[in-house]
Amino acid sequence: MYRLKVKVLYNIYGVKKYMLKYVEITNDNIEFATKIQMKIFPNESAYEHFKFTIERDLEYEKYFLVYDSDIVIGVTGLYSNEDINITNSLWLGWFGVLEEYRLKGYGKRILIDTIEMAKKLAKKYPIKYFRLYTSERDDKIAQPLYEKVMDLKEYYNNPEDINYDGTCLIYTKGLNNNKPIYWNNIFLNLREIVEEEKKSNERYKSDGGLNDK
Ligand SMILES: CC(C)(COP(=O)(O)OP(=O)(O)OC[C@H]1O[C@@H](n2cnc3c(N)ncnc32)[C@H](O)[C@@H]1OP(=O)(O)O)[C@@H](O)C(=O)NCCC(=O)NCCS
Repeated sequence: MYRLKVKVLYNIYGVKKYMLKYVEITNDNIEFATKIQMKIFPNESAYEHFKFTIERDLEYEKYFLVYDSDIVIGVTGLYSNEDINITNSLWLGWFGVLEEYRLKGYGKRILIDTIEMAKKLAKKYPIKYFRLYTSERDDKIAQPLYEKVMDLKEYYNNPEDINYDGTCLIYTKGLNNNKPIYWNNIFLNLREIVEEEKKSNERYKSDGGLNDK
């Protein structure tokens, strides 16, 4: 009877919890990865950023396609635009689940797995905090998850930078027993990041990236 109950629950959520596979985005799969990423974030292309990350080849900066068995369901990654020796922070990048697989528990699993990756890296590099930025207006759908998983929440309001009309939030989690601390409005240069995403999108489209494969 107990076994049956567990099986029913498993079927309701439809997620094989511990079978997600993280395939690193490399030059071999970057076109496909960008296509998946752009399905999740239409009109924002990570192509250039993926390329830059592959070329930079740092152990603590990587992006992944996420598979359940052989089915690709999402994207995740870790990066830092700032010097980790100064910020002690790794950031979540391009985290998302394809629309058809949402609300099945994948997003939470992928976020937790990504935090686990950051924890492992934090044992080798001067990393203490896992952070992410988001917009409470544009990424509303992600807020309930961040509220559950992350430790601290603050508004990002650096006067030199854009802040999505005052809706930019930074969430922080302490890694490996490090007490989380606020980011405190250190300049992120989101303006340049957004511009780069737009340009990358145009370049990717003009290269025919959306028409192939
Ligand atoms: C945010 C996102 C990754 C969530 O993925 P998901 O697979 O649907 O998430 P889960 O099924 O694991 O849900 C996690 C929790 O968030 C809640 N949640 C998810 N989507 C929700 C929604 N649209 N409304 C209310 N709650 C929601 C779930 O109920 C769940 O809560 P629980 O743990 O109490 O059950 C997905 O919606 C997505 O890819 N969105 C587009 C890209 C994006 O916004 N990325 C983040 C940019 S900062």
